[in-house]
Parts: sequence; C-alpha cells; structure tokens
Amino acid sequence: MAYARVEIAPSILASNFAKLGDEVRVVEQAGAEVLHVDVMDGHFVPNISLGIPVVAALRKATKLPLDVHLMIENPELFIEEFIQAGASRVLVHQEATVHLDRALAMIREHGAEAGAVINPATPVAMLSEVMSKVDTVLVMSVNPGFGGQKFIPNAYEKIRQLSAMRQRYNGSFRIEVDGGVDLENIAELARAGVNTFVAGTSIFHASDPAAATRQLKQLATQALSQKA
Ligand code: DX5
Ligand code: ZN
Repeated sequence: MAYARVEIAPSILASNFAKLGDEVRVVEQAGAEVLHVDVMDGHFVPNISLGIPVVAALRKATKLPLDVHLMIENPELFIEEFIQAGASRVLVHQEATVHLDRALAMIREHGAEAGAVINPATPVAMLSEVMSKVDTVLVMSVNPGFGGQKFIPNAYEKIRQLSAMRQRYNGSFRIEVDGGVDLENIAELARAGVNTFVAGTSIFHASDPAAATRQLKQLATQALSQKA
C-alpha cells in the first residue's frame, strides 16, 4: 500500500500562535508524521484563521509534510500559491467548489498530493467519481470552522464505507478524519479504517503535548494490531 498505516497530524489551530515554532518542534520530536494547517476565509466557514505567509514560515520551520486544509470558497484561486508556499498536501472541500475534479487535478499538476473533504452532512457517494483522483479523502467529524468541538459519530459509518470502497476497487487513497479526535475515540477510528488522525485540542491543550502525541499514536497502532 502506498500510504502509511497510521499518521498523527497535529492541528496547529489549537497551538499557541505566538510560539508556533516551538509548538511544532515539540510534536515533531514526539513522532507526529504530518502537520495539519487549517485555512479559513470567513465565508465558507464562520471563522478566519491563517493563510499563505504562515504556510511559508512553517515550511522553513519543520521537515514534516504540511497538510493544508482549505476551508475557503473558490479554492482553485489559491491552490498554486499554497503549493508554492510549501503545502505538501492540499485538501479541498467538495462543498466549496462546483469544479472539484478541476481543483483536484490542479493540485496534482502543481506537484502536491490531492485531498477531497466532506462535511458531516455530505455523503461519501458525492466523491464516487473522483476516488481515483485523490491521495486522501478527509471525513470531517465536526462542522468545520472551530477547534474543540464535539465529535459527530456519523463519521464512523462514512469511514467504514470508504474503507470498503477502497478495498473493492483496490484504491490507494488515505482516509483522514478531522474534528474531536481524542484518546477515547482514536482506537475505534483506526479499526474503522482511518490512516491520518488530525488532532488539535487533544494534543495542544493537553498538559504534555508530546506525551499526548505518543499516546494517540500508540492507541491507534495497538487497535490495528489487535484487529489483524
Ligand atoms: C476544524 C478544523 C480542525 C480543527 C480540529 O474546522 O478543520 O482541523 O483544528 O480541532 P480539534 O481536534 O480540536 O477538534
Ligand atoms: Zn482541519
């Protein structure tokens, strides 16, 4: 399989932005595989976060792949700039563009990995025509816009469906989950088929973010070994 079985992706949205470099170093040293970067425009979601200059600064501060989650309208307008700034993976919402196929193709053309994201109210079937054109499918387990929200459990069934589809068609995309991931639910998510676990609050608001990163990773890995 082309993708790593388990990846922990700390979401910097929950970190202390005044100490961003230090925060990133801590999770990188603790074994996080990916850094999740949430971009919000105040239109697609009711919040504004960060943009291209922060991605460029992060690219210089860490070796980790940058997983850039675009919660913006018309993502096509900014794909190239985010990739030039250092995005390794770009994730666009199915709900944010009427030209999802084009947006995904643009991401790959500019040399990054392409991801498609679905909100809690969007069924997996909305991605059926692009399954062979994505490196990642991201299932939102909260309504996007804010960190620290409660996990919405319909994500489990959607992840199981994706996992079954991936097996059926011998697909090679990663399954990622974002929102409310913590020590309580990560094992079940791993068993359902998730590869990439985004975690903001449960890492950066923990008393020891390095320990939290390691524990999440251990629980996910252990759940899989028991399943096997
Ligand atoms: C929400 C963002 C998430 C957020 C997750 O819109 O996409 O990446 O940072 O935060 P937690 O893990 O706190 O739910
Ligand atoms: Zn996100």
